[in-house]
Amino acid sequence: MARKKIIAGNWKMNKTPSEAVALINELKPLVANDEVDVVFCVPAIDIPAAIEAVKGSNIEIGAENMYFEESGAYTGEVAPNMLTDLGVKYVIIGHSERREYFAETDETVNKKVLKAFEHGITPIICCGESLTQREQGITIDWIRQQIKIAFLNVTADQAKKAVIAYEPIWAIGTGKTATSDQAEEVCAAIRQVIGEIYDGATAEAIRIQYGGSMNAGNAAELLAKPDIDGGLVGGASLKPDFGQIVNYNK
Ligand code: PGA
Repeated sequence: MARKKIIAGNWKMNKTPSEAVALINELKPLVANDEVDVVFCVPAIDIPAAIEAVKGSNIEIGAENMYFEESGAYTGEVAPNMLTDLGVKYVIIGHSERREYFAETDETVNKKVLKAFEHGITPIICCGESLTQREQGITIDWIRQQIKIAFLNVTADQAKKAVIAYEPIWAIGTGKTATSDQAEEVCAAIRQVIGEIYDGATAEAIRIQYGGSMNAGNAAELLAKPDIDGGLVGGASLKPDFGQIVNYNK
């Protein structure tokens, strides 16, 4: 069965709740495409307003982060059941900005992935190499390691539902997109490592996104690659261009 494409916006630390509602209302008609799963990952504080605003549309709301404990003395964190209570279906885990500025590691990523599955939230698990790593020729080794740790103790049935976002750090917010061949090479390697950890059926089922300066101009070429099943889109998800990305096949 062909994998359904999944295009997710990552709003990062942008838009107040009222601005979020305005942007959703603007984008709603532009992102209508039933052939694609469409997700807006928004700041935690925007989630209640965003959930209301997308009602009746094809848009699902995701979070940008989540903690791996159920509740307790973790000042400032958001628990998984706080997200599910609002109707959140997806959560970005281990974005490179969280790894760089908020000390997330492959181990905390793994804990969060397990917790998300426990609560029925689909994790969008981020991986990606730095420019130095690419220049040193260790991209694939590095990504294999990130994936192996992220999926520790994750069952095959869970892994089949996971989304992986391959985001080369040097391409994020820089306007420097990986070529479609570079992106495909790594996404294919990710599918291979999933096949090694689990089996061929799991590797075939899992959806792998590319992220890093995806825009209306390059989305169609990237999404035409056999192992690229979608996109995780930052800057361009805050603009009408997101509609063009979602409708890349029209
Ligand atoms: P960008 O961000 O599209 O602005 O490069 C992508 C991301 O960080 O998910």
